[in-house]
Amino acid sequence: MRGMGFHLIFASIFSLTTIHRCLGAQNMSLCNEAERLSLFKFKESVYDESGMLSSWVGSDCCQWSGVHCDAATGSVVSLRLTGQNIWNNYYFPESNPADEDSSTENEDNYPVGQDCYLISKELDSSLAELRNLTYLDLSGNDFGKSPIPEFIGSLKWLSYLNLSNAGFSGIIPSHIGNLSKLEILDLSARNQYLWADDMAWVFSLSLLKHLNLSGVDLIRAQNIDMVLYMIPSLVELSLSRCSLNNARLGPYLNLSRLLPNIQYLDLSKNFFQGPF
Ligand SMILES: *[C@@H]1O[C@H](CO)[C@@H](O)[C@H](O)[C@H]1NC(C)=O
Ligand SMILES: *[C@@H]1O[C@H](CO)[C@@H](O)[C@H](O)[C@H]1NC(C)=O
Ligand SMILES: *[C@@H]1O[C@H](CO)[C@@H](O)[C@H](O)[C@H]1NC(C)=O
Ligand SMILES: *[C@@H]1O[C@H](CO)[C@@H](O)[C@H](O)[C@H]1NC(C)=O
Ligand SMILES: *[C@@H]1O[C@H](CO)[C@@H](O)[C@H](O)[C@H]1NC(C)=O
Ligand SMILES: *[C@@H]1O[C@H](CO)[C@@H](O)[C@H](O)[C@H]1NC(C)=O
Repeated sequence: MRGMGFHLIFASIFSLTTIHRCLGAQNMSLCNEAERLSLFKFKESVYDESGMLSSWVGSDCCQWSGVHCDAATGSVVSLRLTGQNIWNNYYFPESNPADEDSSTENEDNYPVGQDCYLISKELDSSLAELRNLTYLDLSGNDFGKSPIPEFIGSLKWLSYLNLSNAGFSGIIPSHIGNLSKLEILDLSARNQYLWADDMAWVFSLSLLKHLNLSGVDLIRAQNIDMVLYMIPSLVELSLSRCSLNNARLGPYLNLSRLLPNIQYLDLSKNFFQGPF
């Protein structure tokens, strides 16, 4: 028994050193140069007063904060740039009479603003070069009421996309429907700057588990029923403050067909009245 224990310990030490050597070899492979230039171009496109991107110097972009690379290829797979912008996206109760939250957050009681976020007049297309991205979080930054760019639909490996409270406005581009690997999509915002003209794009998101469109104006959206019936994978759906009303949603609500896997459904703060 003792001999075997010794062998086990010996074997463990041996494999630990092997792993260690492999890891050591991995950080020899620096990040993909083209992707480093894209990230650098993105950095140049934003106003970064708080220094969120101050570690974005040097040749190995895989070491930059918020950036994660595939260990084997050195290609950027994750970009997590969560901003703390509360002020610019502060929800003003008077812009939506359906909101009843004004007792907790009102004009006299603004949330405390922090300035740790990026500011830009639009999302720079350099990010489209990060073709292997599976995770993209730009929430809480301020993209100056620019539209969500269509190129977002070319990041075809994305499984996580969070653009919540990031100061985007205008029509949600149907190109998001090209993201067939998407499991989590958060476009929620305190202000109704974003709106949808047609929700048919959700039809292609067959892996989607979590969809948050709270604060997106859906009053003019065609195919809103697709959201309720055509994403069988959906587990969590938030459609709070979407300006929905009975006429818009009522005819579609057939509870026996609704979202077979749904565990969480938020339809609060819309304009529903009476029974469906
Ligand atoms: C790998 O990274 C570590 C920590 O960043 C560093 O100390 C080490 O010198 C690097 N190894 C190689 C081979 O570059
Ligand atoms: C994405 O990853 C593949 C390997 O999986 C690699 O060949 C390719 O160069 C990467 N693309 C970019 C833009 O780095
Ligand atoms: C998106 O980011 C915000 C922080 O900015 C976070 O609170 C929220 O949970 C994220 N959404 C998802 C679905 O992870
Ligand atoms: C992405 O979606 C748009 C609009 O739905 C479509 O016109 C375009 O061809 C799609 N692109 C790819 C690469 O699938
Ligand atoms: C959806 O987004 C809103 C606003 O950002 C947030 O308050 C809510 O918690 C989110 N819902 C879920 C289920 O994460
Ligand atoms: C609701 O859907 C079920 C299953 O598809 C169907 O049998 C039923 O007739 C529908 N009810 C209404 C009121 O449309």
